[in-house]
Amino acid sequence: MLLDLAAERKLLFIGGKGGVGKTSVSSAVGLHQARAGRRVLLVSTDPAHNLGHLWDRPVGDDPVLLADDGGSGVLAGVEIDPSATIEHHLAQVGQTLRDFMPDHLHKQVGAHLELARKSPGTHESAILERIAEVVELAERDYDLIIFDTAPSGHTARLLALPEIMSAWTEGLLNRRTKAEKFGAAVRALDNDDPESSEGANRDRRIRQVLTQRRAKFEKLRGMITDPALCSFVIVVTAERVPVLESAELFHQLDGLGVQVGGVVVNRLSPADQGEFLAAKRAQEEAQLAKLGQLLPGAQMLQLPMLAGDLVGEPAVAQLAEQLR
Ligand SMILES: Nc1ncnc2c1ncn2[C@@H]1O[C@H](COP(=O)(O)OP(=O)(O)OP(=O)(O)O)[C@@H](O)[C@H]1O
Ligand SMILES: [Mg+2]
Repeated sequence: MLLDLAAERKLLFIGGKGGVGKTSVSSAVGLHQARAGRRVLLVSTDPAHNLGHLWDRPVGDDPVLLADDGGSGVLAGVEIDPSATIEHHLAQVGQTLRDFMPDHLHKQVGAHLELARKSPGTHESAILERIAEVVELAERDYDLIIFDTAPSGHTARLLALPEIMSAWTEGLLNRRTKAEKFGAAVRALDNDDPESSEGANRDRRIRQVLTQRRAKFEKLRGMITDPALCSFVIVVTAERVPVLESAELFHQLDGLGVQVGGVVVNRLSPADQGEFLAAKRAQEEAQLAKLGQLLPGAQMLQLPMLAGDLVGEPAVAQLAEQLR
């Protein structure tokens, strides 16, 4: 299931509760595809990144080579830097706001941005903007982009944001249109006023900025909700709370129009390695049955618990072996 999705889609989102194995599974799929000769970019959108820990090397805001197959296949990694993204985002928003407001209110714009810097919505929209940017930049250079996302709730909100952001810029544009009509009527009465034509130019520029932003979010939303292009995979462990939360996430995503390609049940205990693990496996089987009831018809893939530490390419390759 997972390998088919990865082979057929251009965007793959991997999500789930904290610590269930999102980064491990994303890396395993990425490595498998790179070894199959594809160019893969693995993007961590979780502010508490652990891509660099797993690959045992520093990963940052620019793509870093994680693995290659000696031919055309390549796996590169990026950890989206939320603070740099927020600074960039606020600078852009601030410029647009200042263009909107008369000079004497510019101080208030500054105060407003300081408040915005600390609000969670800013954080999320900044990450979303960076995702849109990464998709736009990486589309040409990579065959597949895998997003290793932050734990559940955050991710679903993030995916709902293009909708909210589009509505927001739409509202501003409508207000602009009304103001422009009024401005044009005034200018028609007073054709020679040089300040007015300057005003018209400024209006056009603001409109351009807003339209570009809206187009960016709408394009991303279009891609995320296109099942031929993008799929979401939920990673879960066979435990009570992760199972319940994964079913919720599944329905949330479905409601947002995002295709959920399947569920990966990770780190299953072996049934034949002693009494303790056998008892644990029996409990996990009960949770698997529960998951099946909550999500009838969903594609499932089971991955065993590996004995070794999951760090570095050979360990990731070992997990990738289990994907088929
Ligand atoms: N199949 C597996 N067998 C053994 N250990 C595993 C397996 N999958 C993941 N792990 C281990 O479980 C821990 C959590 O995995 P990982 O970091 O991939 O989870 P995550 O969902 O990305 O976590 P976070 O939400 O903190 O980002 C790691 O120590 C990893 O090595
Ligand atoms: Mg992780």
